[in-house]
Amino acid sequence: MTKITAAITAVGKYIPDFVLSNKVLETMVDTNDEWITSRTGIKERRILKGEGKGTSYLAIRAAQNLLEKKGLDPKEIELVIVATATRDMQAASTAAYTATEIGAVNAFSFDLDSACSSFLFGMSTAAKFIESGRYKKVLLIGADKNSSMIDYNDRATCIIFGDGAGAVLLEPDTQGYGIQDEYLRSDGAGREFLQVKAGGSAFPITEEAIAKGETTVFQDGQTVFKNAVFNMADVCEKILERNNLTNEDVSWLAAHQANKRIIDATARRIKLDPAKVMMNIENHGNTTSATLPMLIADYESQLKKGDTIIFAAFGGGFSWGSIYLKWAYNS
Ligand code: UT7
Repeated sequence: MTKITAAITAVGKYIPDFVLSNKVLETMVDTNDEWITSRTGIKERRILKGEGKGTSYLAIRAAQNLLEKKGLDPKEIELVIVATATRDMQAASTAAYTATEIGAVNAFSFDLDSACSSFLFGMSTAAKFIESGRYKKVLLIGADKNSSMIDYNDRATCIIFGDGAGAVLLEPDTQGYGIQDEYLRSDGAGREFLQVKAGGSAFPITEEAIAKGETTVFQDGQTVFKNAVFNMADVCEKILERNNLTNEDVSWLAAHQANKRIIDATARRIKLDPAKVMMNIENHGNTTSATLPMLIADYESQLKKGDTIIFAAFGGGFSWGSIYLKWAYNS
């Protein structure tokens, strides 16, 4: 029987209009452009403004961008996965709302959350539906309105995060393109170092929780940084080894955009030419589930059929991993 792989066949992206620059942040908290740029590589990030606009607002527009570019009838889509750490609402599926709004009326849908690894794990999940032979068109969207859970008085977190969305279409391929291998990990001991404590089932939102700052992101930056550097590099090394790939064989590294120093360290560990490292953190900051599809959208015009792309992510939980993909088309 011919082996079916899951190939990315289209991409889309959406970022909100409002630009929050380092210069503006200087007027909000005790920070400066030089510190943010040298420690993170970030210059500006986008913020979604407007009452009632949640993550679905971003997801819908990224999906519409993909549909338009591909000329795809949304009725053909069979499954919509929204990878996100900032669902519109508790208990109501953001993916269901997104699918309906884009006209994917024949699809079922669900949300997938594993913090900054949501999209990477979503790629793995989407691939299984395609590889089963039962599904032909799966739309995977990575979207986050991080500004909804950031305290803009906390300089340790407000400088890092931004809002945005990216989308990819996965379809079956029998020529050897698409997702080749994955190495995915998690470790619950990491939960205490990166979390929004209140608002989930363990600690509901109370006045006391709000007063203690437990409804916004807490991060022990240094611990997360060390774990991210070690683990992202580790999984990249493993996926190369497992597939007998050398740094020469790799066309691109598409790594989660959390901090330029983490991405550079990962690239150094696998001895990758910096020209092969996708980077857009300067203009977007860390958009959690959206970083990987937004990277692919930004680099789409440079990608060639057959390119070897190594995806890598690290995030809350902790959760992390790497995926090896062969790019399936010339744009
Ligand atoms: O996507 C999910 C995963 N998240 C990550 O991967 C993020 C990982 N962590 C990081 O990227 C970095 O740890 C941060 C960017 C969050 C912080 O960078 P750092 O180099 O680890 O800084 P630090 O926390 O060690 O702080 C160094 C100094 C401290 O001052 P002292 O104690 O040396 O006097 C901080 O108080 O920088 C100070 N500082 C700041 N200064 C200006 C901390 N935040 C700021 C700031 N502006 N925004």
